[in-house]
Amino acid sequence: MPVEAIRMLSPAPGETYVDATAGLGGHASLFARAVGPAGVVILNDTDASNLAKAQANVRAACLPGQPPQIHAIHANFADLPWRVSQLGLKADLVFADLGFASNQVDDPARGLSFMRDGPLDMRLDASKGLTAADLVNNMPEHELTQIISEYGEERLASRIARKLVQARATGPISTTGRLAELVRSVVPRSGGKIDPATRTFQALRIAVNDELGSLEALLAGLGASRRSEWLETGCRVGFLTFHSLEDRAVKRAFAEGIEQGAYDVSGGAAAASEAEIQANARARSAKLRVVRYS
Ligand SMILES: C[S@@+](CC[C@H](N)C(=O)[O-])C[C@H]1O[C@@H](n2cnc3c(N)ncnc32)[C@H](O)[C@@H]1O
Repeated sequence: MPVEAIRMLSPAPGETYVDATAGLGGHASLFARAVGPAGVVILNDTDASNLAKAQANVRAACLPGQPPQIHAIHANFADLPWRVSQLGLKADLVFADLGFASNQVDDPARGLSFMRDGPLDMRLDASKGLTAADLVNNMPEHELTQIISEYGEERLASRIARKLVQARATGPISTTGRLAELVRSVVPRSGGKIDPATRTFQALRIAVNDELGSLEALLAGLGASRRSEWLETGCRVGFLTFHSLEDRAVKRAFAEGIEQGAYDVSGGAAAASEAEIQANARARSAKLRVVRYS
């Protein structure tokens, strides 16, 4: 929802924009043009290769000789408050477009998709941390059940966990194809188009990348006692979420800010237009929330 994000965050020339999830630099390019050569763009991503692509794309999107000052940070956005203040800067605009980028899910080697066979990895930062295979092959059954139930909002979590534990006794589950096949063998396909493996893959991706923990840490940086470390007075902050667990966390944090005087720019959650949903199926579950802190 790039058009809505720009309209609600209303960047102005000379402002400092922080992109918590630079991805391929699509949103950041629009903001870079809006803040102009007197402005600053801070690109952040946990995926080093996407961060490099975002930098190149943002530069290419600006008029020759007209790019803003660009900083690139390879970090989890949980660390953004201190990373931004370490640069000696304060943000006028912060935007986070949560989850994974299209090039990550399309690359079988990243192990994010049940549509493409590949190693069962799922890490957005491929340089560190446990993979989905580590979790699936080593976690006690009750913990697997809990993850699949909570993060996947999957009713049949215990049945899936039991199947995975039985299967791994005969050899490690090491590919996305094998995991998807095991889940499909115990979850009936319901009438719709949703693959039975969807919710389990979402759950494992959230767990592998500690997505909710990182989000809570970033949201904590928006609290009244922390804002002045890295945000200018009047800073606009926007989150684009793709599932209810993320949206609930953002809604709660923003409600606290609104109670303390922040302005609810988006008036609750804005959804994607029908035209955008037609062009990009992922937009169906997108929710955009924007507030302006005073
Ligand atoms: C949906 S894409 C962003 C797309 C971007 N807005 C664009 O227009 O190209 C999400 C990006 O956020 C990154 N990401 C996800 N979780 C992150 C985290 N906790 N910290 C930093 N980056 C993260 C992913 O690596 C991915 O590149």
